[in-house]
Amino acid sequence: MTLPDKWRWFPAARFGLFIHWGPYAQYGRGEQVLFREHLDQPGYVDRACAWNPQHFDARLWAATARDAGMRYAVLTARHHDGYCLWDSRVTNYASAAQAPERDFVGEYVEAFREAGLRVGLYYSLADWRIPAYWEGPEHDPAGWDRFRDYVHTQVRELLSNYGRIDVIWFDGAWPHHAGTWRSRELVESIRALQPDILINNRLGTPDPDEGARQSADGGLGAGESRTLGDFGTPEHHITAESGRLWESCQVSTWRLWGYTIGERWRPADYLLDMLIEAAQKGGNLLLNVGPEADGGLPPEFVLRARQIGRWLQQHGEAVYDAEPGEVCEFITYGRQLRRGNHLYLVIRFWDRSGEVHVGGLETRVERAVLLSTGAEVPFEQSADHVVIKGLPQDPPAELFPVLRLDFGSPPEPRDWARDRLWCGDPRRMTPWAAARGSSVWADGVERGG
Ligand code: GLC
Repeated sequence: MTLPDKWRWFPAARFGLFIHWGPYAQYGRGEQVLFREHLDQPGYVDRACAWNPQHFDARLWAATARDAGMRYAVLTARHHDGYCLWDSRVTNYASAAQAPERDFVGEYVEAFREAGLRVGLYYSLADWRIPAYWEGPEHDPAGWDRFRDYVHTQVRELLSNYGRIDVIWFDGAWPHHAGTWRSRELVESIRALQPDILINNRLGTPDPDEGARQSADGGLGAGESRTLGDFGTPEHHITAESGRLWESCQVSTWRLWGYTIGERWRPADYLLDMLIEAAQKGGNLLLNVGPEADGGLPPEFVLRARQIGRWLQQHGEAVYDAEPGEVCEFITYGRQLRRGNHLYLVIRFWDRSGEVHVGGLETRVERAVLLSTGAEVPFEQSADHVVIKGLPQDPPAELFPVLRLDFGSPPEPRDWARDRLWCGDPRRMTPWAAARGSSVWADGVERGG
């Protein structure tokens, strides 16, 4: 895949903030409460229009994201409930026209750009208020045309009125096809307005003439397209997509994206491990937060964001710009990341033995550095093993310690270690087993009879 220069920032960034925020936060039961609880539509609208967050400060959000080591963000400009966080000319169901009288999207874009972050906007094609969305063009052709025009107009608004936008993130295309949404035309008009923008892949389920081709994870739930969009969006899982950029979107809580009272939070090391896994596989992590109804970020999230940020300050060179792929056998300790002539060993547990063992490295190690302290450490390398020594007893980092091995060229594995245990040709291991003989007896020698 040859990546245009204008998009190089995206894989280099590796880490972004997903923000699910809207009037649904008032219920504290996730972003889909309107549908999931089959709430009364007019009652929901009344509460949405009265929603008036007092503690929304986009600069605080931006500072939290920046300090977490995130390099971009994506804010829900509109979710499936249809409420708009900007000053839309085609509806008054929007923060600028209702109680807040504020353009939250404008404030967000300005603050995040000021903090040096790239900015993205999430836009739900679905709008659960509108009967024509549910009816579809088959049952309500005129209503559908009006609704789809409204959607296209809103997207153009978002991409015309706020300067440069780096990412547009569609969602909610289900159950309609890309053709039904006129997604190709939408993409063309987006490119005309924002030539450098990255567009995600949720632009509609495959058109019938695309046959039974399915999205990468085999499901069409999110309305993903294999043919439209610049990057894939595996959700709740970290799966590499071949042939295009990808970003795994993940919650920092148990399951929900919007603010949820009493939700359980994933620990910081779990969140960090997802970032490292994505980087190792060549993708990004878009980590979600659901801010509270009044605009504050949940303290549990801020705490974790700071922990990850501190870790990235010390160990970021292992993650940003990491090249995909594992080099050798290291799976029992943690994860490995590679970049140029460096191999980074991310260690999940610290056994206090003062040593770390790596199997199957062909290239000669020139230097070993405990990245967590910056100290060079001694090592011994034989044909199949590297033992890194002289490590401190106590874990040298709050989250995962990292060792950096430096080489004179990009590191290569020994032949046997090119693939992980369950992959590759199993016969590569036969000579290793045969070295002790071939019988089931302890000495490997066949017994007659
Ligand atoms: C799903 C959900 C939606 C959420 C999105 C994030 O599509 O419907 O609520 O915004 O995932 O990827």
